[in-house]
Amino acid sequence: MHREGFFLTLWVLIVQSASKNCILRSQIHVVEGEPFYLKPCDTSASVHKNEAASIRWFKDSGPRGYEELTAENSSRITLHSNVLEFWPVELDDEGTYSSRVGNDNQTWTLNVTKRNAHSCFSEKLVRSREVEIGKSLYIPCENPNYSEQINRTSLYKNCKEIFKTQKILKNAEFGDEGYYSCVFSVHHNGKQYNITKTVNITVIKGNNKIIPAILGPKLDIVGAELGKGVELSCIALLNENDQLYWSLGKEDRSDPNVQEDENKTTWTSEGKLHALKTLRIQRITEKNLNVLYNCTVTNDEATDTKSFILVRKEMADIPGHVFTRGIIVAVFISVAAVSVVVLCVIYKVDLVLFYRRLLDRDETLTDGKMYDAFVSYLKECHPENGEEYAFAVETLPRVLEKQFGYKLCIYERDVVPGKAIVDEIHSLIEKSRRLIIVLSKSYLTNESRLELESGLHKALVERKIKIILIEFTPASSGSFLPPSLKLLKSSRVLTWKADKSLSHNSRFWKNLLYLMPAKASRPWREESEAMPVLSAL
Ligand SMILES: *[C@@H]1O[C@H](CO)[C@@H](O)[C@H](O)[C@H]1NC(C)=O
Ligand SMILES: *[C@@H]1O[C@H](CO)[C@@H](O)[C@H](O)[C@H]1NC(C)=O
Ligand SMILES: *[C@@H]1O[C@H](CO)[C@@H](O)[C@H](O)[C@H]1NC(C)=O
Ligand SMILES: *[C@@H]1O[C@H](CO)[C@@H](O)[C@H](O)[C@H]1NC(C)=O
Ligand SMILES: *[C@@H]1O[C@H](CO)[C@@H](O)[C@H](O)[C@H]1NC(C)=O
Repeated sequence: MHREGFFLTLWVLIVQSASKNCILRSQIHVVEGEPFYLKPCDTSASVHKNEAASIRWFKDSGPRGYEELTAENSSRITLHSNVLEFWPVELDDEGTYSSRVGNDNQTWTLNVTKRNAHSCFSEKLVRSREVEIGKSLYIPCENPNYSEQINRTSLYKNCKEIFKTQKILKNAEFGDEGYYSCVFSVHHNGKQYNITKTVNITVIKGNNKIIPAILGPKLDIVGAELGKGVELSCIALLNENDQLYWSLGKEDRSDPNVQEDENKTTWTSEGKLHALKTLRIQRITEKNLNVLYNCTVTNDEATDTKSFILVRKEMADIPGHVFTRGIIVAVFISVAAVSVVVLCVIYKVDLVLFYRRLLDRDETLTDGKMYDAFVSYLKECHPENGEEYAFAVETLPRVLEKQFGYKLCIYERDVVPGKAIVDEIHSLIEKSRRLIIVLSKSYLTNESRLELESGLHKALVERKIKIILIEFTPASSGSFLPPSLKLLKSSRVLTWKADKSLSHNSRFWKNLLYLMPAKASRPWREESEAMPVLSAL
């Protein structure tokens, strides 16, 4: 070996042995096969690294007395500085050892235990520790005496490895009880040795006394049916020697129908004691109703009571499932009702027309009026209003009169020439139930203004006539409507869309019929046939 290598090795060994704690206790138990060392205390004064040779080791070999141990004796037992090392310790190493430094002596008795073939630890070498429930449980797995040589540390609980953990730190629970073994793998001269340290953990109940208490409200009202059975459960949080009992009246105590169960106690994992005591009434009778059944927990310092009272279960009480069904039905009905209302709003017009037809209603018989509607339109036919003109004198009478039996008053057809026009129009509007205004751009600039004003007056002031406004698309811009017309409800304004409104079943005609007075369907043939229907020019 090179000189440098030798000194390096020596230095490493010195550092290693210097890090080991000295051993004071004189009775030592070890298990065979594990590395072990002896190191005297109080040698600091006389031992320096250069004086390693001045420490001498002896072993009591029985009849032959003390024998000095030297490095040459065995390769298994080594001397480094002031440390005697065993790699590993064997059964026949048992005995008394002493070290001598100058005048200082220290003696140890070594007991070597046989390895337990069936367990990962030896029971004789187990240390026991009690941990109070809820207090911290700390198992660090540290071995400072061999720290440089350890290259693996594993932790076992009851000989089952706890993977990926080399220490435990938690609040103790009862489930934490068991044997915890820290196994340190140590390498020496190319061989692996294990050092096992085992601790026997016992979790003990806390010493702090709690104030006993019964869980839940102080008064429990229990619905009961006559003839049925009932169980009243009383659960208390208490100390080990506290009393938990039911107070029964004299009558109940002798009644076999009323039974008190044995109390059942359990420790929760948090270390609290729960006790359950049940009172059983097999068949409820009248005398069990409306009396207090008291459950009490008590110790020298405190008492807590809870009362139960049985009341007749209200028959009117709706059972849960019926209630749920009721809710579902109610929701369903509400949804249906809302849907019906929504449909009614959407199809109001159709419904009203349907009812008129069904009941054959006629509101025109008794009001003494002659016409169902006076049609007001631009009398002269210009190219720009030809469509509106044709609609007023041709389309309207064709549908309303021939199809639906209304009687219209159309100026060009029904006004007898020669009378004073203003008076005539006035009286005709008076004799009509509705005023239909066929709106065109030039309408308001024209003489038909008169009809409009007269009609508006009757509609808005005298409330004698209802106005129906028919607009043409492209919509005549609302700006030219007189303010009074803008007051009309939008439902009384209809829009004619030539392409969509032609069919007699279209929305336009339905809305118009809806605004017209109800009339029994008697197509008004005679007169329309007697009078030639005007054709568009
Ligand atoms: C471990 O602790 C329990 C409870 O204190 C005890 O009964 C048992 O004997 C101990 N086991 C050993 C091996 O010391
Ligand atoms: C421990 O260290 C030794 C050498 O020091 C090596 O041979 C061995 O493989 C190591 N074992 C582990 C588990 O790392
Ligand atoms: C040391 O313990 C490890 C597990 O930590 C195991 O695999 C190995 O066999 C043991 N070695 C000896 C010599 O007991
Ligand atoms: C259990 O019940 C008995 C009476 O039956 C009582 O004396 C005892 O204190 C109770 N134990 C607890 C823990 O409540
Ligand atoms: C139950 O407790 C109430 C008060 O909490 C008391 O008035 C009643 O007498 C007790 N009943 C019995 C049977 O102990």
